[in-house]
Amino acid sequence: MNTLTQSAAWQALLNHRQDFNRTSLRQLFAQDTQRFQRFSLQAGPLFLDYSRNHLMSETLDLLTQLAQQAGLPDMIDAMFSGEPINSTEHRAVLHTALRDPYSAPIRVHGQDVTPLIEAVLERMESFVHQVRSGEWRGFTGLPITDVVNIGIGGSDLGPASVIAALPGDCTGPRVHFVSNVDGAQLTYTLRHLNPAQTLFIIASKTFTTQETLLNAHSARAWFMQTAGDASFVAQHFVALSTNETEVKRFGIDPRHMFEFWDWVGGRYSLWSAIGLSIALGIGMEKFRELLAGASIMDEHFRSAPLAQNMPVVMGLIGVWYINFFGAQTHAILPYDQGLERFVAHIQQVSMESTGKSVTLKGESVDYATGAVVWGGAGTNGQHAYYQLLHQGTTLIPADFIIPLQSRAPLGTHHQLLMANVLAQGEALMRGKTADEARQELLAQGLTEPDITALLPHKVFPGNRPSNTLTMSSLTPYTLGALLALYEHRTFVQGVVWNINTFDQWGVELGKQLARLIEPELASGKLSGTHDASTAGLISRILDSQDPHH
Ligand code: F6P
Repeated sequence: MNTLTQSAAWQALLNHRQDFNRTSLRQLFAQDTQRFQRFSLQAGPLFLDYSRNHLMSETLDLLTQLAQQAGLPDMIDAMFSGEPINSTEHRAVLHTALRDPYSAPIRVHGQDVTPLIEAVLERMESFVHQVRSGEWRGFTGLPITDVVNIGIGGSDLGPASVIAALPGDCTGPRVHFVSNVDGAQLTYTLRHLNPAQTLFIIASKTFTTQETLLNAHSARAWFMQTAGDASFVAQHFVALSTNETEVKRFGIDPRHMFEFWDWVGGRYSLWSAIGLSIALGIGMEKFRELLAGASIMDEHFRSAPLAQNMPVVMGLIGVWYINFFGAQTHAILPYDQGLERFVAHIQQVSMESTGKSVTLKGESVDYATGAVVWGGAGTNGQHAYYQLLHQGTTLIPADFIIPLQSRAPLGTHHQLLMANVLAQGEALMRGKTADEARQELLAQGLTEPDITALLPHKVFPGNRPSNTLTMSSLTPYTLGALLALYEHRTFVQGVVWNINTFDQWGVELGKQLARLIEPELASGKLSGTHDASTAGLISRILDSQDPHH
């Protein structure tokens, strides 16, 4: 039996929640002119305004008590010091060590891992220099112009989101990402590429992921059609993995493998060799700036008191809405086009980490864990799904992310972008009362019957919470801090919910079943073990492939 919901802090929060049935965000702002100063904080290059949330000082006290009671400070120490906190896989969780390779020794099974990290960074550095300078040549003697990263999940989303976020920093070869086993993605990516000037990065922690291996084999076949000679593969294929045996089996020389370790979780791996595509795109110096930005956030997370700790405060606000307001989703709304893919990456970081329904001891939880993370770049979303945020019936806490200065300034574009994000946060919080709406309609000269008919549609309930994160501009350094912030926010929530943030057994069943179904599709013979729906759909696929169909 788990005791979270019976704990004193949880019960006190349940009672305290009632206060917000009587107090709106508008009222909270009206009562306290210092609310913005009181509920905002700085961590490294990031500033968080969390004043537009349903909280008071008492809320924060109770939430930090909940975190204390869950043992958060000890868990943070345990993570940073390399204890095997990923208990179901008996692994340490040390993506933080990757961002601070010159730190004090960190031991895993008695071995200091910091020299290993630096050694791989140095190998990456030398390789990146060779490719970017044109020293590294393809099989016809021409330099590399295009890099294709083949990976999926954490071996794709982290690097892809960083490359997309920093277009102005991408000064190296063009970097493409192929993740989906839908052959269309590989086909259309390769369509305009020259095999003689293309470098493939096969990125897979396990090197057993079916989609990645099939894409890698198809990429090699495409390359061989032109290259002809298998000895040329060495100049055009490198691997990023923890699994040397499988890398060799695929046919990549381990000298062309950049290693990482089982204490780096897939969705936390962009900081490791998995970041090679990033380093090729933006250069090693900027890759190290990305690491440094994350490291600043690590330092803050490790040392700031809970109530002034940005990932802790954001994590706890998330818990507050999920467990005490019934929120089921969380929107991430960056006002920077480059951060569109960031949302997809944080979706994996958050949902693969917190989508659990048993505690560390394997007991069923009797509270909600996790939320659906979704979103996209503003202002686009304003013209698509914000309607539901403003006037829908569900509570959707949102994070607005704003680089204060644009790195691609163009006339008044950035000013208009900023005006919009500020307007959205204000609109969600303030809403528009019936009285305010009526005055507007009167001013527009509408008749009383028209006003009566239209008024309910013109009211905005408001009282909808949001955080606003700002940074001076989006650079490798600030992006590093932003990524680490969301990683740690997720960990905080996992600790409060007493779940394992770092495993992902929930992805296994689908993989197992796909391994059974694929041979059935190949042979045309059903195993008879399927439910009627699956069997019926298999038959439809087989029929569609029948030439006589
Ligand atoms: O299936 C889920 C998953 O294991 C993710 O956790 C991981 O990021 C992704 O697949 C890719 O795994 P790999 O890097 O081993 O190919």
